[in-house]
Amino acid sequence: MPYALDLLRALKAAEVEVHLVATRGALEVLRAETELEPEALFALAHRHYPVGDLSAPIASGSFRTLGMVVVPASQTTLAKIAAGIADNLLTRAAFVHLKERRPLVLVPRETPLPLPALRAMLAAAEAGAVILPASPGFYHRPRAIEDLIRFVTQRILDHLGVALDWAPRWGD
Ligand SMILES: Cc1cc2nc3c(=O)[nH]c(=O)nc-3n(C[C@H](O)[C@H](O)[C@H](O)COP(=O)(O)O)c2cc1C
Repeated sequence: MPYALDLLRALKAAEVEVHLVATRGALEVLRAETELEPEALFALAHRHYPVGDLSAPIASGSFRTLGMVVVPASQTTLAKIAAGIADNLLTRAAFVHLKERRPLVLVPRETPLPLPALRAMLAAAEAGAVILPASPGFYHRPRAIEDLIRFVTQRILDHLGVALDWAPRWGD
């Protein structure tokens, strides 16, 4: 969940309009991994929607976006996206991004990866998604956990096409 929070803060810094969907699993993980209440997470977005709200604007391809990021992407959600299952607002919005050929970045964190997860990642990549594991580099000599998190956020921003320098790059 720290990866999600960091991305939201970076997108705010870049003045990107953010529409947020948090699954029930995400809110459970928020409770486990941070001190934050769901309202504090929602406050980092311009709009947030209940995961069951399939009539939200982002459920339609006619709603224009720069792209979509699922961070963290559970293996459950990743497998559903890979299979074209659109049973909630998050998986429907992901389906729409594939359909409209817009950037869809999936950020799994699970390790190790069993065969069903690897197969789902392959299928999602074949469908056009970018699989961007939360797997930071070390060449920028991180000194704090924040430095590791920002490294992953920077890669996500780059794939979305958001011009923001959030973490040092190779050669900096
Ligand atoms: C504290 C906590 C940490 C979790 N971490 C992961 C994880 O890193 N990767 C993963 O795939 N699932 C993880 N899960 C399991 C997912 O939350 C669970 O599979 C859930 O059903 C995912 O559904 P969702 O994608 O609709 O949120 C975690 C669950 C909890 C409670």
